[in-house]
Amino acid sequence: MTEKRVAIVTGGSRGIGAAIVRRLAKDGLHVVAVARNLEKLEQVCAEVNAAGGSAEPLACDIGDAKAWAAALEQIGDKHGRVDVLVNNAGITRDDLILRMEDEAFDEVINTNLKSAFVSIRSAARLIMRSKTGRIINISSVAGVAGNAGQANYAASKAGLIGLSKSVARELSRKGVTCNVIAPGFITTDMTQVLPDELKETVKSNIPLRRFGEAAEIAAAVAFFASPDAAYITGQVLCVDGGMVM
Ligand code: NAI
Repeated sequence: MTEKRVAIVTGGSRGIGAAIVRRLAKDGLHVVAVARNLEKLEQVCAEVNAAGGSAEPLACDIGDAKAWAAALEQIGDKHGRVDVLVNNAGITRDDLILRMEDEAFDEVINTNLKSAFVSIRSAARLIMRSKTGRIINISSVAGVAGNAGQANYAASKAGLIGLSKSVARELSRKGVTCNVIAPGFITTDMTQVLPDELKETVKSNIPLRRFGEAAEIAAAVAFFASPDAAYITGQVLCVDGGMVM
């Protein structure tokens, strides 16, 4: 069995996920970083390992439930333990509700919500065996407050909150906690593509008057993964500069 606590982080190739990989490795965990793009994952892991941390890449399309469940089994077989599971991977396919195609709805629900269900179901037995089992799901303020043009995304992110609260209740008897982080507007590739005008409007509505950094979400993940958060479960923490309060 791997000696270090083992964390799985989906969407670990860039943005918030890569920041979470770096932070958990810095905090002494062995991190399995999952995403579709192996090359980018290898870059992140090489950087972590060069800095004295411990991380390994695993390429998988988490939207493919069978492939993702098989990959999780492979991680379990290799390490004999899973202590921290971070469901971070997510996509957007924005459109107004009147124009939104079934396919855009299904794809977002499948990638953002069903993949988290599959990973929790597959990893639950090993997490329950850990003395410090933690599940952390990355939602969004859109899942808490809704957002025009994001009915599919907001539904997937609100779904993660219901999923997390149910899992928190089910796994609590084994000491496993399950919490949600709802980021506001964080500077990553996902948000870089938005028009500058929209970004300025968003910024003026953030009480702290700036966008968040990926490392600030990773810090909240590190807290939930730490012994300091052992008595917190079923909670939603908005890390959003005050957007939703
Ligand atoms: P990003 O687009 O920069 O990175 C997404 C990651 O998910 C990538 O590593 C990508 O490879 C992975 N991914 C997507 N679909 C996948 C699939 N089918 N299989 C495997 N991996 C897949 O996104 P960002 O900004 O880092 O966001 C991370 C999470 O935080 C997402 O769930 C997003 O919804 C959430 N979030 C982001 C906010 C922001 O302002 N950037 C705000 C609120 C929530």
